[in-house]
Amino acid sequence: MDDSVRLASDLAQVARLATTGAEADLRLLLARLIRRYRSKFPDLSAELIAILETPRSAPTRTATRPTESRPPESGNESAGLAILRSWDPMEAVEDPVLSQPLRTQLQNLIAERSRAEELRARGLEPASSAIFVGPPGVGKTRAARWIANQLGMPLYSLDLTAVMSSRLGQSGANLRYALDFAKSTPSVLFLDEIDSIAKKRADPADVGELKRLVTIMLQELDEWPSSSLLLAATNHPELVDPALWRRFGAEVKFEMPSTDLVKVSIRRFLRDDLMQFENYVETLSKVLDGRSFSDIERSVESMRKALTLGAGTPGEIVAEFVAGGASAMTRAERISFAVELAERTSLSQHQIARMTAVSRDTIRKHSKISSLGEN
Ligand SMILES: Nc1ncnc2c1ncn2[C@@H]1O[C@H](COP(=O)(O)OP(=O)(O)O)[C@@H](O)[C@H]1O
Ligand SMILES: [Mg+2]
Repeated sequence: MDDSVRLASDLAQVARLATTGAEADLRLLLARLIRRYRSKFPDLSAELIAILETPRSAPTRTATRPTESRPPESGNESAGLAILRSWDPMEAVEDPVLSQPLRTQLQNLIAERSRAEELRARGLEPASSAIFVGPPGVGKTRAARWIANQLGMPLYSLDLTAVMSSRLGQSGANLRYALDFAKSTPSVLFLDEIDSIAKKRADPADVGELKRLVTIMLQELDEWPSSSLLLAATNHPELVDPALWRRFGAEVKFEMPSTDLVKVSIRRFLRDDLMQFENYVETLSKVLDGRSFSDIERSVESMRKALTLGAGTPGEIVAEFVAGGASAMTRAERISFAVELAERTSLSQHQIARMTAVSRDTIRKHSKISSLGEN
């Protein structure tokens, strides 16, 4: 295409997006134009970069939308957006439940960004990236949102599983496209499931494609603008390309909740119904021990729903929930669970017997044995 014809059609598209208020799409298009015109029209590119890098002033953003950015239009032009979710910095994000060392680590990361100038003035470079490691459902994504929120920056989340499932040959273009977009404005970019680039390596048909993606990621990480923060997450650290791993400034470990945090999170997730369930928090923490925050949240919500819908008293609802958990246990597990409830909660033996289907006699017998064992 002749340059002027191309410029004219690009200009028309800019105008169209600008007048429909599709700011996310417009920024994405501008990022592509910068790349397209970099060599032929360097001044234009530089000007566009300056425009994109100017922080948006918050008060002018009236129509802030809390969840996903608008859905991409059909056609290749916006295909990259489909794999990029965005969260508005104005939307409040509740503090995640975090162990003290983890909270400190994340707060340091935030402080390095928000006080970057102080560090630079003394010749220190603030961390511009970190990789979150840990099992599913323990708050990696939640923490990324919280950090972006604390920094007052938009969060863009790129699901690499979705990138990988793009049409063959399209995933590289989609990845670049999404990265260009995130770079075009001061923001936090979150690369979720970064191991999925590595996961498919077993399939020889994908090897070429995967190599290309890793190469793109390496380049992009090296040129990542200091105005943005790059976060990544994985449940499978062993699958992540070591060269990629080394690019991250910090490694942050997320763990399954400790017994204390199970209790803290149950209280948190009970919200307005905490008073009603207060007597059962201890019992619930026994059943939910060893589960992720995400599982705990789901269980607690199902009990709140049952209460709201009049399914029973809090005691009955908890009993039913515990019985459901106990029915998946072996008899030996049920007995030791029943004994634990008898020793550590204020439930009566009658209630415990109903919840666990272990008779009161058996509970009494085993309680004696275990208390003898302690002496
Ligand atoms: N540390 C936490 N504090 C509060 N809620 C949490 C926490 N971890 C997980 N959750 C709940 O579980 C859901 C899934 O968590 P998410 O952050 O997506 O986990 P991950 O990214 O580690 O798989 C969240 O939306 C949140 O409701
Ligand atoms: Mg997640």
